[in-house]
Amino acid sequence: MDRLQKVIAQAGIASRRKAEELILQKRVKVDGVVISELGYKPRKGAVIEVDGKKIQREDKVYYVMNKPKNTLCTSSDEFNRPTINDYIDVPQRIFSVGRLDFDTTGVLILTNDGDFANTIIHPRYHLKKVYEVTISGVLTTAQIKEMESGIKLEDGMTLPAKVWITNKKKNVCSFELTIYEGRNRQVKRMVEYFGYEVKKLNRKAIAFLQVNDLKPGEYRILKPFEVKQLTKLANEKGR
Ligand code: URA
Repeated sequence: MDRLQKVIAQAGIASRRKAEELILQKRVKVDGVVISELGYKPRKGAVIEVDGKKIQREDKVYYVMNKPKNTLCTSSDEFNRPTINDYIDVPQRIFSVGRLDFDTTGVLILTNDGDFANTIIHPRYHLKKVYEVTISGVLTTAQIKEMESGIKLEDGMTLPAKVWITNKKKNVCSFELTIYEGRNRQVKRMVEYFGYEVKKLNRKAIAFLQVNDLKPGEYRILKPFEVKQLTKLANEKGR
C-alpha cells in the first residue's frame, strides 16, 4: 500500500512534495474524511479528493517492447527525432525501465511503476542482460578472457561477464555478451576499450524476457507472473 502523498503524485496532480503540502493544508479527503497525516496509506479503491475533486488512481501497467532502431527512449526530443512514444498507444503515462541507445534494438520494459523500475535498474540488483553485438574487428582469446573477468572503465571495473562468439569473419565478429549490470553505454564502452567499434547492438534478453515474435516497435503486456518473477530475480541478484 502506498502513502497518500505518493498516490496523489502518481495521479499527476502534484509533485510528491506539493502533495505533502496539500495534505498538511487539510485539502485532501479520503472516503469523505480529511486526512492531514503524511504517513496515511489509503486502501485500494478508496475515494481520494483534492480540493473537492476526485483523483483517478492509475493502475500499474507493465509492457515489453521490441525497441526499433533509431528511436530515443525519452518521451520527447528537442530535435524531433523519433521516440518510443511514437509507437505507444496506452492511456497511462509509461516510461522505459532504463534506456537503450538511439541505435540499439531489442528488449525494453515499459511501465508507470517507479518502484518496479528502480528495482530492475538499481546498481545493487544484478539482473542478467544478454546482448547480441557485432563489432569492427575480431576479439582475440586474451581479449575475451579480459572482457569476461572484468575491465577497467572510467566508472570502475566491470563485473564478470560471459562472451559467446557466434560469427567470425576477416574484420568483423559477432558475439553474445551476458552482463549483470546496466551502466550507461556499457557494451559500447567495453568494446571501445579494445579499440573496436560496435556496428550493431541488440538486447536479446533481460533475465528470461525476450521479444519473441514482436516486430520492431511492437509491444505486449507483461503477464503478472513475469512481473513477479523479474522482481524476484532482481532481488535475488538475478543469478
Ligand atoms: N550498452 C550500450 O552500450 N548501449 C545500449 O544501448 C545498451 C547497452
